[in-house]
Amino acid sequence: MVQSECRLLRGLLGFICLLPVSMSATPDLCVSLKTVRDSLNATLRRRFMKMNFPINYTIQVHYEEVFRLRNISRLNMSNEEEPVQQRDLQDLWLWVNQQGIKRVLRVLPERHPTRSKYLSKLENLFRRFEELYKQKNPIDEERVLPERIENIWDRLTDQYYEGWKSVTPKSILDNCYRTMHCLFKECFSKEDDNYDYCEVLNWRKGKKTT
Ligand SMILES: *[C@@H]1O[C@H](CO)[C@@H](O)[C@H](O)[C@H]1NC(C)=O
Ligand SMILES: *[C@@H]1O[C@H](CO)[C@@H](O)[C@H](O)[C@H]1NC(C)=O
Ligand SMILES: *[C@@H]1O[C@H](CO)[C@@H](O)[C@H](O)[C@H]1NC(C)=O
Ligand SMILES: *[C@@H]1O[C@H](CO)[C@@H](O)[C@H](O)[C@H]1NC(C)=O
Repeated sequence: MVQSECRLLRGLLGFICLLPVSMSATPDLCVSLKTVRDSLNATLRRRFMKMNFPINYTIQVHYEEVFRLRNISRLNMSNEEEPVQQRDLQDLWLWVNQQGIKRVLRVLPERHPTRSKYLSKLENLFRRFEELYKQKNPIDEERVLPERIENIWDRLTDQYYEGWKSVTPKSILDNCYRTMHCLFKECFSKEDDNYDYCEVLNWRKGKKTT
């Protein structure tokens, strides 16, 4: 009798201890990210980021602001001494893509439909997601970032750094979309029939990654 009560109690305590862990998967963070995802669907990307621009139009971004699936796999390659955490890559993703949206907004005239009908809203959705994300992932002051991540941040935030690359506006959001599915798998994996965006072998199969 006593023993079974003990077991019950331990079961309850275990449950309580587990709660914070299982809740860190954060449903509301995913809800917010899914609104971002819906605004990034292929139709909208094509209409607002391609058809609304002159053919082959490009804008200038810093090299480090190009953040693709290939970058993720390269940065994530095992380095026992300084392992890269998912969190490091998610932080980069968030910064780089908000910066990308800003860069496009900066070249758009005030009344351009891509600004008023699309990018301003998308920027707000990102901002809302960022607030939640920062709440759920408070900055860990103790953590020393792996050197390759630190170097990227240095260049991203160096206002005198001159390394420019031409990219199409659409490619910024295409990469945003793909890398989002890789880095925030927990939010998407169930519905997307387990198509793994992180998986290198999938990249060339193509059709779903556009
Ligand atoms: C993308 O979203 C728009 C607006 O919500 C919708 O009309 C369109 O059908 C969607 N396209 C795809 C491919 O899901
Ligand atoms: C756009 O770029 C493609 C591929 O680089 C090229 O073949 C095409 O001629 C370009 N179109 C225009 C209008 O410049
Ligand atoms: C991604 O890789 C490209 C080269 O393919 C590089 O120029 C860029 O700096 C990398 N981006 C990041 C964030 O590491
Ligand atoms: C990074 O590598 C680890 C270990 O190989 C793997 O479990 C994880 O899924 C990778 N993360 C990404 C975003 O590719």
